[in-house]
Amino acid sequence: MGSTVKFVLDGEIIELKDVDPTRTVLQFLREDLRRTGTKEGCAEGDCGACTVVIAELNRDSDGVQLKAINSCIQFLPTLHGKQLITVESLQRKNAGPHPVQQAMVDCHGSQCGFCTPGFVMSLFALYKSNPRPSRTEIDDALAGNLCRCTGYRPIIAAANAMYELPPAASEPLHAATLAQLEVSDSLHIEHGARNFFAPTTREELAALLAKYPRATLLAGGTDVGLWVTKQHRVLDTVIYTARVAGLQQIAVSRTHIEIGAAVSLAAAMEAIVAHYPALDDLFRRFASPPIRNAGTLGGNIANGSPIGDSMPALMVAGTTLTLMSAAGEREIALEDFYLDYQVKDLKAGEFLAQIRIPLPEKNVVLHSHKLSKRFDQDISAVCSAYRLQLDAGRVASFAMACGGMAATIRRARHCEAALNGQPWTAASIDKAMLALAEDFAPISDMRSSAAYRLRAAQNMLRRFFLETSGELESSVYRYGR
Ligand SMILES: Cc1cc2nc3c(=O)[nH]c(=O)nc-3n(C[C@H](O)[C@H](O)[C@H](O)COP(=O)(O)OP(=O)(O)OC[C@H]3O[C@@H](n4cnc5c(N)ncnc54)[C@H](O)[C@@H]3O)c2cc1C
Ligand code: FES
Ligand code: FES
Repeated sequence: MGSTVKFVLDGEIIELKDVDPTRTVLQFLREDLRRTGTKEGCAEGDCGACTVVIAELNRDSDGVQLKAINSCIQFLPTLHGKQLITVESLQRKNAGPHPVQQAMVDCHGSQCGFCTPGFVMSLFALYKSNPRPSRTEIDDALAGNLCRCTGYRPIIAAANAMYELPPAASEPLHAATLAQLEVSDSLHIEHGARNFFAPTTREELAALLAKYPRATLLAGGTDVGLWVTKQHRVLDTVIYTARVAGLQQIAVSRTHIEIGAAVSLAAAMEAIVAHYPALDDLFRRFASPPIRNAGTLGGNIANGSPIGDSMPALMVAGTTLTLMSAAGEREIALEDFYLDYQVKDLKAGEFLAQIRIPLPEKNVVLHSHKLSKRFDQDISAVCSAYRLQLDAGRVASFAMACGGMAATIRRARHCEAALNGQPWTAASIDKAMLALAEDFAPISDMRSSAAYRLRAAQNMLRRFFLETSGELESSVYRYGR
């Protein structure tokens, strides 16, 4: 078992011992290395000023995968086995600015400049992954970067112009050095009385959790990171799941999409949308590309926030979870997993291993609506999902689940009962909207009042009816942007 964090930076292998398990990559860059190009705006994954790019060898091919992430909530030991690319990495000695940087200069994309390095890194990730992005793809790529000088027009111009410039003399990718990193074994870092474990198998993870049942499981860290940067919690024992190969797989069987708990949100969403295309809108509005690159579907489900966005749709699809511990495995329906606010049916020593989503049956429509104050990068006030099967104009089966309406995400049983077996008509929907008031007694908070939440959930159901009866466009993109 290794005890040294090893990663590549500008072609050099960096080796760190005795690392503070929850020191962030941003702190390391700015305070230890004095590479101050990467900025801190919010320290909670929201503004994008701290965006860096991570390169990883693709497990399934010889290629290298690049991902923009937020360095402010990424813990340093998670760099093990990867290449870190910062805004400084883009400019090589005597080679001038990278085309992405040059385009920002040419188009006057920088005003006060504070957000600029983050935009440059998101644009760099786009430049390397998409040879000709559409306007929507550019907007999506920049959804996690805020400019307080509100200069988006020249930044979007730069996103187009960067492709017209001569390519860089050399790109800051070091695949050969990355391949030289000897990181196949598990990692255990001791830092005083604190520990960071990165096991590589599910059995090793189960054994560690049996030994340290109070340990914090860390996947993408897009929730856990904020416990440290915003709540200043000290995490004594952290067990990192992202190096466990058995939690990284996506498979499609005859009946299910099977997604390992440590699969990134980005990869999981791609696999789900391939079978449930109507969920594309929801997933594009889930946080931002850097959060979806780092965060996992397993983390979203296990965190169990009452306003988590993936769970209503997964719940109505009939998703089950495989939970694992040193004692073995068990299967549980997602809708039975949430017992109360932040209380889950997860025993000490157990972890989420796999998410099993049934493939869609014929003639089933599955859709989800997210309502938030901003279109991009915002937390839902209400998130609803519906699964509808019609038979000759009557409802053969209807399921609905809502987030933001109760202490947990849950099914709308009264509303479902009001619709099952009924004609799929405006009159039936009126009754079902009233029944929603029996299902939920939402709270008022900074996102919205209780009355607004209930009215919104009712109207979202009506929207679903109008969409399925062809009276409304179903893509939120058409009116969102
Ligand atoms: C800026 C920002 C925007 C966001 N926007 C959204 C949004 O639009 N919609 C939304 O739903 N969420 C959003 N989130 C929340 C977050 O990104 C998601 O909940 C994400 O899926 C969490 O995954 P993770 O891998 O980062 O989890 P982590 O932070 O690593 O872990 C989350 C929780 O799950 C536990 N856990 C992780 N893996 C396992 C496992 N295998 N078994 C058991 N427990 C486990 C951890 O111990 C922790 O309690 C946002 C967060 C940020 C910072
Ligand atoms: S500092 Fe704002 S996203 Fe990291
Ligand atoms: S240029 Fe000032 S914040 Fe973007």
